Amino acid sequence: MVRNVAGELPELEDEDFYLLSGVEQGMRFSEWVQRKRLPKFTGLTEEEIDYRIARCLKRGFIEKKTIQYEGYTLQFEGYDLLALRALVERETISEFGSPLGVGKESDVYEVRSYKPLALKYHREGYTNFREVHKERDYTADNEHVSWMYTARKAAEREYEILEALYPDVSVPRPIDQNRHVIVMEKMDGVELSRTKLTDDQVLGVLELLLDELAGAYDAGYVHADMSEYNVFISEDGVRIFDWPQAVPTDHQNAREFLRRDLRNILGYFRRKYPQHVPDDIALEELASAIEASSFDRLEAFVS
Ligand SMILES: Nc1ncnc2c1ncn2[C@@H]1O[C@H](COP(=O)(O)OP(=O)(O)O)[C@@H](O)[C@H]1O
Ligand SMILES: [Mg+2]
Repeated sequence: MVRNVAGELPELEDEDFYLLSGVEQGMRFSEWVQRKRLPKFTGLTEEEIDYRIARCLKRGFIEKKTIQYEGYTLQFEGYDLLALRALVERETISEFGSPLGVGKESDVYEVRSYKPLALKYHREGYTNFREVHKERDYTADNEHVSWMYTARKAAEREYEILEALYPDVSVPRPIDQNRHVIVMEKMDGVELSRTKLTDDQVLGVLELLLDELAGAYDAGYVHADMSEYNVFISEDGVRIFDWPQAVPTDHQNAREFLRRDLRNILGYFRRKYPQHVPDDIALEELASAIEASSFDRLEAFVS
C-alpha cells in the first residue's frame, strides 16, 4: 500500500517540491531521470539539489538507481504530494482526514474544505509498477511502464465522466482533479454490499438503481463495473460511483457491458433477496428498454 503522506505536507519546503516536480518533468522522457539533468528540470543549484535529494530519498518520495548512470524516479508517495500541494494551493482542500476506502485500484480519504469531501488517489498501474521495479533490468528505459501516465489518465477520465453525469445521474459531485487525484463530494451512507434492506425496500432500491443506469445511458455512458461494491445507499437513495472504466454508449462493446452490469446487479439482488426478486426478469428486454430510453417499471419485465 502507498503510505498516506498528507501529514508530511506541512514539513516540506518549496525547494522539496521543485525537486519533486523536476523529477516528474524528467519522467516525461525516461523513467529514470539523470542526476545531471536535474538543474535544468528543477531550476535549483547543484548543492541545493543534493540536499533536496537526500531529504526526498529519506522520506521515500523518490528512488535512486546507480547502474549505468545516477538516476531518480518518483514514487507514488512523491506523486501524491505533488497533487496534494496543487489542490491545497488552489484551495480545493484544506484539511486531511481518515481513510474512507481502499479499493482495487485506489485509495480514498476524507478531506475538507468548508465541508467534508472525498479524495481518490488513482493507483492504476501500481501493482505492475512494484513488480516491474523488482524484476526488471534497470536500463530498459524504452519499455518505460508509465504507472504515472496510467493513473493520471484514469483520474482524468473519471472526472470527465462525473462531470458529464452530474447532476442528472446520482453520482458524487465532482469538485476538482489534479494528476492522478480526483476530489468529489463525500457520499453519505454505506456500500450496498454492507446493507441489509428491509422487505419493503428491496424492489424499490433495485428499481432506483436501474433507473440511474438508464439515466447514465441517456447521458452517454455504460458503467461497465457495476456491482454491490460501487453503490452507496442512504436515506436519500442510491449513488453509483467508481466510473473510470465506463464506456460511451457508442462503444462497440457497450451492449455487452450494459448486459453484464445488469446481470451483476440483478444477480446480487437475486442471491441476497431471493424471496423478493423474481427470477424471471427478462434481461434482454430490460437492456433494450434502457437503450431505447423507455425503462420505467421493473414489473414490465417480469414474465
Ligand atoms: N465520494 C465518496 N464518498 C465516500 N466514500 C467513497 C467515495 N468514493 C469512494 N469511496 C469509498 O472508497 C472505496 C473505493 O472507491 P472506488 O471509487 O470504488 O475505487 P476502486 O476503483 O478502487 O474500487 C469505495 O468502495 C467507497 O467505500
Ligand atoms: Mg470500487
